[in-house]
Amino acid sequence: MSTKNLLIEAIKDQQNIFGDDLYENLNFSNQIKNNFLNDNSVKEKPEFYMPPKSLFENYSEYKTLESFNKKINTCQKCPLGKTRTKFVFGAGNPNADVMVIGEAPGADEDAQGVPFVGRAGKLLTDILKAIDFDREEVFIANILKCRPPNNRNPLPEEMNECTPYLYKQIELVKPKVILLVGLISASTLLNTKLSLTKMRGNVYEIQGIKTMVTYHPAALLRNPNWKRGCWEDVQKFKKLYESLK
Ligand code: URA
Repeated sequence: MSTKNLLIEAIKDQQNIFGDDLYENLNFSNQIKNNFLNDNSVKEKPEFYMPPKSLFENYSEYKTLESFNKKINTCQKCPLGKTRTKFVFGAGNPNADVMVIGEAPGADEDAQGVPFVGRAGKLLTDILKAIDFDREEVFIANILKCRPPNNRNPLPEEMNECTPYLYKQIELVKPKVILLVGLISASTLLNTKLSLTKMRGNVYEIQGIKTMVTYHPAALLRNPNWKRGCWEDVQKFKKLYESLK
């Protein structure tokens, strides 16, 4: 990666973790801050967000992940349908107790059609192993099923088209607990603009399923000093899971 891109990724990581606080602490003027964040609608309590029922209406006839995959894997609802190599539906145990949700496929995932198989994926596998979960026993999916060009952040319109697929997957898998990795996944599914710092360690709910949040493994690769915090998060996540068994 070029130095410029590394810098951009590093700043994005900082914003992902510290959210508005980063800019507050830098004492930016409101105008500059609003240009960066465009955020006047912070919701302090994302715990009980329920996605609208209409998100599920179209898919009630699909009773298995397999049939649902067949239905959607030729999707062309957004321009990423044209640029993807492979549709990345999600992978793992269709009856998993644990579901892990990331952001979007990267280059490796796009090539293989499987989520989290690149460097970040290997780290995710290790994080799961650290709390005694095999990758095969959980179900792993993303907010977006197709790779955004150059791994840019998902656009709102792409997420709007794609999240109904994810909600249906959650409904079919019916996990006991969900782990959201990274701010994009957390803020989208909990419908909040809170920073990751403020969300970490709390237990939320998605459709009645207990949900926790931690760093994205790609951010951990760039900022290894956050691994300790991730370790603490996943220990709490494991305890939550044990308490529900
Ligand atoms: N990052 C993600 O968020 N998902 C993947 O599948 C790979 C990298």
